[in-house]
Amino acid sequence: METAEAMQKRRSIRKYTDEPVSKEDLDFLMHCAMSGPSAVNRRPWDFYIVTDPKVLEELRKASRYTNIVSPCAIVVCGNLSRALPMQLSEFWVQDCSAATENILLGAVSIGLGTVWCGIHPQKNAVKKVSAALNLSTKQIPLNIIFVGHPDQVFEPRDQYEEKRIHWVE
Ligand SMILES: Cc1cc2nc3c(=O)[nH]c(=O)nc-3n(C[C@H](O)[C@H](O)[C@H](O)COP(=O)(O)O)c2cc1C
Repeated sequence: METAEAMQKRRSIRKYTDEPVSKEDLDFLMHCAMSGPSAVNRRPWDFYIVTDPKVLEELRKASRYTNIVSPCAIVVCGNLSRALPMQLSEFWVQDCSAATENILLGAVSIGLGTVWCGIHPQKNAVKKVSAALNLSTKQIPLNIIFVGHPDQVFEPRDQYEEKRIHWVE
């Protein structure tokens, strides 16, 4: 699948079949994630791949917007012990967001569905996800990506808005 086609096909999927996501597909998604760019190539990320039903249930309770039933979830965390120093450390959010989008697009290309559910900077949700995964204080969960075989279908969508573009020539 062409990358541009995957971009337009990608939609947030909030209903999944029971079919598990294969280890091979999850490996592929991790390769997609880690080929993303990061500031000074620090790659300050950790990925938790969760299929344990009890932990998935805890993740669902992270916030009122994360109650999504799927056979798998990937939690993308920034690891501050590998982030850049001082105020540059905040680049971890952009680094992990790039990895996240790569996972979303990679998933589309192999017929999987995903939904990106934001965790950081919601303090309460960060606390709940950190507890569910036993994270260290250096690890900050940026999001939960619920992953699975889609049980709903959306048409590809183009949200192009010319007025948002500012040409400086
Ligand atoms: C930073 C971020 C946080 C999001 N958090 C949630 C969330 O907590 N729960 C949810 O169901 N969707 C969440 N979404 C998905 C958005 O609601 C969705 O991308 C948006 O409505 C556009 O729809 P689409 O993804 O189908 O194009 C989030 C998306 C982003 C980028």
